[in-house]
Amino acid sequence: MNNQAHSDIVLENEHRARVRERYTADEAEVIDLLMEHIRLSDSDRAKVAAAGAQYVDRVRKETSPSMMEAFLAEYGLSTEEGVGLMCLAEALLRVPDAETIDDLIEDKIAPSNWGAHLGHSSSSLVNASTWALMLTGRVLDDDPKGPTRVLRSLVKRMGEPVVRTAVAQSMKILGRQFVLGQTIQEGMKNAREEEAEGYTYSYDMLGEAARTDADAKRYQKAYSDAITAIAKQAKGDVRSSPGISVKLSALHPRYEYTHKTTVMRELVPRALELAKQAAKANIGFNIDAEEQDRLDLSLDVIEAMLSDPALEGWDGFGVVVQAYGRRAAPVIDTLYNLAERLDRKIMVRLVKGAYWDTEIKIAQELGVERFPVFTRKINTDLSYMACAQMLMDRRDRIYPQFATHNAHTCAAVIEMAGNDKDSFEFQRLHGMGESLHGIVKQAEGTRCRIYAPVGAHRDLLAYLVRRLLENGANSSFVNQIVDTSIPSKAISKDPVAEVKALGKQVANPTIAQPHDLFKPARHNSKGFRVNEPASILPLLAAREEFADSKWTGGPMLASSPDPKGTGRDALSPADTGRVVGTVYEATPEEVETALDAAQGGFEDWSSWSVADRADILRKAADLYEEHTAELTAITTREAGKTLLDGIAEVREAVDFLRYYANEAERLEEEEPGTPRGIFVCISPWNFPLAIFSGQIAAALAVGNAVIAKP
Ligand code: FAD
Ligand code: 2OP
Repeated sequence: MNNQAHSDIVLENEHRARVRERYTADEAEVIDLLMEHIRLSDSDRAKVAAAGAQYVDRVRKETSPSMMEAFLAEYGLSTEEGVGLMCLAEALLRVPDAETIDDLIEDKIAPSNWGAHLGHSSSSLVNASTWALMLTGRVLDDDPKGPTRVLRSLVKRMGEPVVRTAVAQSMKILGRQFVLGQTIQEGMKNAREEEAEGYTYSYDMLGEAARTDADAKRYQKAYSDAITAIAKQAKGDVRSSPGISVKLSALHPRYEYTHKTTVMRELVPRALELAKQAAKANIGFNIDAEEQDRLDLSLDVIEAMLSDPALEGWDGFGVVVQAYGRRAAPVIDTLYNLAERLDRKIMVRLVKGAYWDTEIKIAQELGVERFPVFTRKINTDLSYMACAQMLMDRRDRIYPQFATHNAHTCAAVIEMAGNDKDSFEFQRLHGMGESLHGIVKQAEGTRCRIYAPVGAHRDLLAYLVRRLLENGANSSFVNQIVDTSIPSKAISKDPVAEVKALGKQVANPTIAQPHDLFKPARHNSKGFRVNEPASILPLLAAREEFADSKWTGGPMLASSPDPKGTGRDALSPADTGRVVGTVYEATPEEVETALDAAQGGFEDWSSWSVADRADILRKAADLYEEHTAELTAITTREAGKTLLDGIAEVREAVDFLRYYANEAERLEEEEPGTPRGIFVCISPWNFPLAIFSGQIAAALAVGNAVIAKP
């Protein structure tokens, strides 16, 4: 990470500063602040809930669920089979060879209880798929004791390629549900029918998180070609013209805060070129919101792009705000302030957010202080209402685009809008929410745009997985509306009342906070997000203190001779001109002294109780964490580690210390033994802190003495 990346011009802007502050805010605090934005009265909100329920009733009565909705309602993510399918979809497209595909199918499909789903669904197609999946399970189930073993294994041998093709084919069918066409031409052709009914489109060229520059350039060309094609259908007003949605992560393989300078130099011009093309055609150009780690950086990119004079006078620049993010409200303020400063009108699409599961898992894995998103769906619903009101109040600069498939959320927006139905639009995804939006559009005369992915199968995976998660989760509106055992009123509840009823339990207690991931056994080690300025800047600042430190390493023996003058320089591997410290090698005599000392120490240490030894290791773990700045500084300066690797190294060491403390206590109870004696631990060059600490901690935990050679 270079210095320019963390120079803090951002904080000169009060709104950007608030975005950063909000990153570490407590969930309940954020919800309190959002509550203040909601202006719908109790009776307004009761009206909204009733209207939402009415939409649900109408959708259920007047339309029937699509095959995909029925499929995902049957195989939701709360069933083992649904999870199996999900894993399969997630993995299948990446598996290179037939053998692994067969193993994967066997692993994910064969053991499930498909028969239980047979005949459940009202869709005969879903029932037919169940038969197919059951058959697959049967075919692959090679019970060694069963009488039909020989026959089965014959079928299995002959049938596996067929099964493989069938499963791959099902995944393609699944994908097709969510993709409008393989090429922009095909997509635009397939859009005609809905356009004739008054819908508009925003085309999304599949592709994201480019891994190489070649991929990024390929995606850029796809966007550019698409804009050229879409431009031909421009109608002179961005609101009634088709537009494009772009993912910045598709345009650069290093769209990360750690590469901010490169991003500003390389990604911004690429994105700007596309925006200029869209501006020239006067169509909408929308920047999708992706992972929360990209949020802060995206605001820099957006500001740099929007500031370009070539975009003056064009109202089609669009940004997405994710209501599940705790920073959503200050992000809206930031965007509004930007539009004011630059005297622009922009579009803001409000979504709840498509990466929820990822955000939760990543935060837990990283052991960071807070989740960047809410932990209850109802909190996100409330945040959406608050943000929707903020957008409605800022229509002088912002054209709000409300993207949702939820009937209650639609009803709330309609209530906030009052009689003005023209200064905002609804949006839905292709293949989702057709019935609801058909009814809303007809009843309210509101605008609706369809977000339509276009592209080849190979680029579909990430998008498909998000749609499967969204459709398959039993908390999702699209999942619940198909399940007629849930009354419409229960699906259309007022989030304000629901959140108030939570009392002090605003955060979801069933989701382990990152720090508590391994509770009750131990604390998760404390981590940082290198791509989140609010998380990493304090650590970077603390490391500065050690930029020129010199450390001394060598025999730490009471009886060692004063080593001054006999040491050698330890050099930075990244810059051998820089001296990091001084190393004193042990002499054979010192080794003898060490052995004697260890023998003496062993007698004492091995007589300690396990609990006392474990407490000391835990205390050491806490101290490591307290000194993360210095420890990561050493791992960078002496071992040449990147910041990310340095953090991982300290965390691993901390985990080892806590883990072995626990293990020693467990062993004492389950299979007590006696300490062995003196251990010599030698640090490997590649994990000089983590593995070294692990070796030492394991030996010490069970009462051994250690001679440690760094
Ligand atoms: P609901 O069922 O009411 O809400 C589901 C949502 O609630 C989940 O997606 C999640 O956001 C949230 N949620 C679920 N469980 C929890 C929980 N335990 N705690 C907190 N929150 C929870 N998404 C993006 O991220 N970026 C985009 O650029 C983007 N563009 C879109 C464009 C369009 C036109 C549309 C329709 C959607 C877009 N999405 C985007 C996807 C969008 O985020 C999801 O479709 C949306 O979250 C579903 O919300 P809903 O109101 O339709 O459904
Ligand atoms: C997604 O790609 C629609 O942008 C949203 O999931």
